[in-house]
Amino acid sequence: MDPLAAQNPKSIQDMFGVISKKYDLANSILSFGIHHLWKNTLIRHSGLKKGDRILDCATGTGDLAFLFEKRLAGSGEVVGTDFCEPMLDVAREKTQVKSSQVSFRHADVMNLPFQDHEFNVASISFGIRNVQDTQKALSELGRVVKRGGRVLVLEFGQPHSAVIQWGYEFYSKKILPRVGGWISGQPKAYEYLQSSSAAYPCGDEFLAIAAKTGRFEKMRWIRFQSGIAYLYILERAGE
Ligand SMILES: C[S@@+](CC[C@H](N)C(=O)[O-])C[C@H]1O[C@@H](n2cnc3c(N)ncnc32)[C@H](O)[C@@H]1O
Repeated sequence: MDPLAAQNPKSIQDMFGVISKKYDLANSILSFGIHHLWKNTLIRHSGLKKGDRILDCATGTGDLAFLFEKRLAGSGEVVGTDFCEPMLDVAREKTQVKSSQVSFRHADVMNLPFQDHEFNVASISFGIRNVQDTQKALSELGRVVKRGGRVLVLEFGQPHSAVIQWGYEFYSKKILPRVGGWISGQPKAYEYLQSSSAAYPCGDEFLAIAAKTGRFEKMRWIRFQSGIAYLYILERAGE
């Protein structure tokens, strides 16, 4: 499978729609909670300041958006967007429980309904490998961020240590679809997670795609657990 081949947006929407109610539970069990640590690292590298406007795209059930809001401590504004309504419904239900002010809106990350330079920070976690055109999505994220602001991308990659690669492959091919399927009733969604992550560009290869947008002047990555996941920190050109 060509990892950058066009994903069918309708099937992606349907897939997340079906698992939306079980998404958080499956995520926490299958990642042993580690995704919270990765997301907290993303926030630490966002350069966010009190009063900032933050956009979290492909927000899903809003995990990262709520973490940003907590860090802003009552100042600024957080907007979460996704193109799957059932995922957004779960996020909106969570705003009631958390007394949160995060606003959740329907939007495709490849065509964001915002003006240029509206946000100080924009993020996308575990969403970019699902989009039809990685470069276009990164360009949109860069467009809506202010000059000097940051785009943060968290995404799966491939471990570079052979031992970890072997263990991770066993886990993601044999365990993940079974346990994910058992929790959500949709093993296919967790087979897709494995297949879509296995060959998705990571590290410098991903930064080469980001560079083609011409929107970022500084770019770097941080590798988690030998490359199971990567955080990309893209700084918007000051112009
Ligand atoms: C694996 S979930 C990640 C959710 C959340 N960001 C997290 O870290 O838990 C991927 C999300 O990306 C969304 N998504 C995929 N393609 C999208 C697109 N083109 N525009 C907006 N959202 C998209 C899906 O609807 C889904 O909610």
